[in-house]
Amino acid sequence: MRTHFCLDVRIYTLLAAIFSYPLLAAAQSASVDANGHQWWQHAVFYEIYPRSFADSNNNGIGDLNGITSKLDYLKDLGVDAIWITPCYPSPQVDFGYDVSDYENIDPMYGTLADFDRLQEEASKRGIRIIMDFVLNHTSDQHAWYKESRSSKENPKRDWYIWRDGKGNNQPPNNWLSTFGGPAWKFDSTTGQWYYHYFYPQQPDLNWRNPAVEKAMFDVTRWWYKRGVSGFRLDAVDTLFEDPDLKNNPILPGRNKYGDPNMEDKYNKKLPELHGVLQRLRKVADENDAVLIGETWTKNIAELREYYGAHGNELQMPMDFLFTRVDKLSPAEFRKQIAGVDSAGWPVYVLSNHDIVRSYVRYGDGKHNDQIAKLMAGLYLTLRGTPIMYYGEEIGMTNNDPKRKEDVKDPIGRTGWPKEKGRDGERTPMQWNSSKNAGFTVGTPWLPVPASAITHNVQTELKDPGSILQFYRHLLTLRHREPALREGDYFALNESDPNVLSYLRKYKNEAVLVVLNMSGSTQTQSFDLAKQGFTSSRANTLLTTQPSPAEELSLSKLQIEPFGVYIGKVTK
Ligand code: NOJ
Repeated sequence: MRTHFCLDVRIYTLLAAIFSYPLLAAAQSASVDANGHQWWQHAVFYEIYPRSFADSNNNGIGDLNGITSKLDYLKDLGVDAIWITPCYPSPQVDFGYDVSDYENIDPMYGTLADFDRLQEEASKRGIRIIMDFVLNHTSDQHAWYKESRSSKENPKRDWYIWRDGKGNNQPPNNWLSTFGGPAWKFDSTTGQWYYHYFYPQQPDLNWRNPAVEKAMFDVTRWWYKRGVSGFRLDAVDTLFEDPDLKNNPILPGRNKYGDPNMEDKYNKKLPELHGVLQRLRKVADENDAVLIGETWTKNIAELREYYGAHGNELQMPMDFLFTRVDKLSPAEFRKQIAGVDSAGWPVYVLSNHDIVRSYVRYGDGKHNDQIAKLMAGLYLTLRGTPIMYYGEEIGMTNNDPKRKEDVKDPIGRTGWPKEKGRDGERTPMQWNSSKNAGFTVGTPWLPVPASAITHNVQTELKDPGSILQFYRHLLTLRHREPALREGDYFALNESDPNVLSYLRKYKNEAVLVVLNMSGSTQTQSFDLAKQGFTSSRANTLLTTQPSPAEELSLSKLQIEPFGVYIGKVTK
């Protein structure tokens, strides 16, 4: 049974006023606000996996025209920028993360003219476009690699990482691909091995070669000229390798592919990568653009490095440590939030095309819809920029393949059954309750889960208690309330084991967020004197509470199981 959050008439009126508030459009068009914040610090980002979003030509695979047709939906939802995962020409071994031409669109997704139309239509709605920049590697079908491979004397030979083997059919060292097996492949054309951190069809570029850097930076300039507002940088951790190819330390045990566990000491997070990011940032700055990083850091110190010592690297390194807090633990979230909040401008994600959907990661199987709202209440009210993943706003679930023969993602075939691959989190967007959830009238490239009958845009738009409506209200508030956009973060009641609560304070006002991460009703008491607020009451802005009052006492605030309460506090 789905729960409903009820809003009394006055709160509804308030929300209606918020919906039509003109500040929204203004915030989207100005680059820097009075507080020195840039456009991307106000923006709500939304990741689109183009194969799975909307299929305009009914071949079972989503496309750019499909995305264009859904821009009004995104605008209404409160999205300011879309990050489109790779839609460049590609053999699709890694579903686009194997790029064979950086300056074009794969015919499967449309044409450059379709892209230009998408850009134009998005821009009309105040929505910016972020492209995915796959800079660690190309496809083995890229012209650069074909040239590089052709002979040792080819001018592009040194654009990739070629080495002699150790004899006896042995690779140059012990490095392993993160997708299983050795990270080296022998090529008989020249009798040397090439390095690939990902699939063998994804040879790593040699970033020590200045010609590679120039060519790749020019790719970003080319897209900036077409109007894009930034890039999500794929696999930045692995740009550089130790030039002496020292063997990595072997760790105890084996991974999902049966390979020995290994510390990627000499082929991951080498200091040289920061120089590239600093120079790439200069190009971004010349174009008022943002760089978002796929940064898999193991602690806050590492995350901090990605911002650059002088804030001169990535504006938005994603905090994946947040996704590793895989349980409803106020203590662990508090710790993680405090860490990232001190590191720089936080970037919060709950899941993406490589991570199991948050709906199942946090859900307990019984209250998943409430918990989906609870998690929205968390990452959309924190100080920082949130990046949503398509379908999160309707409570899409993972739909993992049940049989090996159904798996599309190659790692799911190599690692079956321990690793089922990433198909489950990449299924078609659920637009309505018709066949294939309205994604296509063809055969979708991945199957739609049964829950699409209830969890889809059309149905949820009609239900005031739906996850989608909660997201819409929340995003409206986020754009509307200065404290949610600009305010500092203060953790409250820090020893509470069940309820995560905090204040977002901006000038004379603040927004109080109370998130009950437990399955029982909790009563909370807040003393906000330390933060400069003596008022004993909060004005309700948004809540999942069944019969919310317009005002609540801060000394006795009751919150339902997995409930969210967001209220305004003034001096
Ligand atoms: C990270 C991307 O998110 C993932 O989908 C891809 O397989 C690897 N990088 C390789 O590009």
